[in-house]
Amino acid sequence: METVGLCHTDLSMGVGGAITDVPKILGHEGTGKVLKIGSKVTHVAVGDPVILSFTWCGDCSPCKSGAPGYCYEFPQGNFIMNDLDETYVLDGQKIDGKFFGQSSFAKIGIVNGPSVVNVKHLNLDADTLAKFGPLGCGFLTGAGAITNAGEAKKDESCVIYGLGGVGFAAIMAAKIAGCNPIIGVDINEKKFDLAKKLGATHVIKGGDDAEVSKQIKELTGGHGAELSLECIGGSRFVQNAVDNACHLGKIVYVGLAGMEDVISIPSFPFMIGGKKLIGCTEGNARPYEFIEKMIGWHAKGQFPIEELQKTYKIEDFQLAVDDMKKGNVIKPILKY
Ligand SMILES: NC(=O)c1ccc[n+]([C@@H]2O[C@H](COP(=O)([O-])OP(=O)(O)OC[C@H]3O[C@@H](n4cnc5c(N)ncnc54)[C@H](O)[C@@H]3O)[C@@H](O)[C@H]2O)c1
Ligand SMILES: [Zn+2]
Ligand SMILES: [Zn+2]
Repeated sequence: METVGLCHTDLSMGVGGAITDVPKILGHEGTGKVLKIGSKVTHVAVGDPVILSFTWCGDCSPCKSGAPGYCYEFPQGNFIMNDLDETYVLDGQKIDGKFFGQSSFAKIGIVNGPSVVNVKHLNLDADTLAKFGPLGCGFLTGAGAITNAGEAKKDESCVIYGLGGVGFAAIMAAKIAGCNPIIGVDINEKKFDLAKKLGATHVIKGGDDAEVSKQIKELTGGHGAELSLECIGGSRFVQNAVDNACHLGKIVYVGLAGMEDVISIPSFPFMIGGKKLIGCTEGNARPYEFIEKMIGWHAKGQFPIEELQKTYKIEDFQLAVDDMKKGNVIKPILKY
């Protein structure tokens, strides 16, 4: 690994986090270079520069239909490794080293083939590749949620709840699609200037759901938003987004909440409004295509991810986590 981005999912899957309590090496926005390949791997060679993304099986019906984010093996391959083997052992304790098929909070990893996106043909210099780890998760998720799942259209009103790495990628993608207005909602006002710089036409301070609703309705001609993206994490925000959607509005949900979280939506307005609530994993994206699409936007200056990032030495891991939590940086990049 050369670099790895920090995504909120690393934090929520950390100590006491969701899904599984087995000890694990987290990290899932890695970039690096191939040191060795397995006998069945044909799409990369030793020495190739790569961006790492999530893993999928390739054999199930969603994988075969080109929707690897909905692989039936997704939870097992990306989050849960209860049947740990002897690959990673610390003090006699077996450890999951296949988080998102990669566990890139480790300098050397044994990465699943499907997680590896070869970018050799793009001839990126080392500094540029170093920035691209979050294209494997956070940016893929936000930009893909708007572009693929939300099918954003020109002049559509768009609300993005949560201005983290996912939300900022969504803002940039909404701008590329020509959405208008683009409204960002966050409790942390530190994020607002940058959100406006990168494409938000309006920002709203979150926290008071009734006030958020009032302002969204005012900014969208009274009826609510045509496209909404929930990227905070939790049913409360989804419910609020459904409430604030106009008739025929699309609400895309990506935030990660606890396993017990239940979305509860008043059914009548949902039905007569013809609203569409869309669950979305990894931006409905095929990493092997969508990462290159984002690199194309970046080359054209439409996806200025540098504005979101700050690079930390891997030793300063905790500082990066604290800075992200405080909103001092949107997307920390850790460098080995
Ligand atoms: N579905 C997927 O495939 C997928 C992929 C990546 C991340 N995620 C999830 O998406 C979410 C966002 O990830 P991220 O890395 O951008 O996180 P982040 O921590 O960088 O950003 C979250 C933002 O939400 C804001 N927020 C918190 N409480 C709020 C409130 N009450 N009102 C308004 N804003 C509030 C925070 O201030 C922060 O800016 C997380 O839940 C993460 O686990 C899902
Ligand atoms: Zn599959
Ligand atoms: Zn992630």
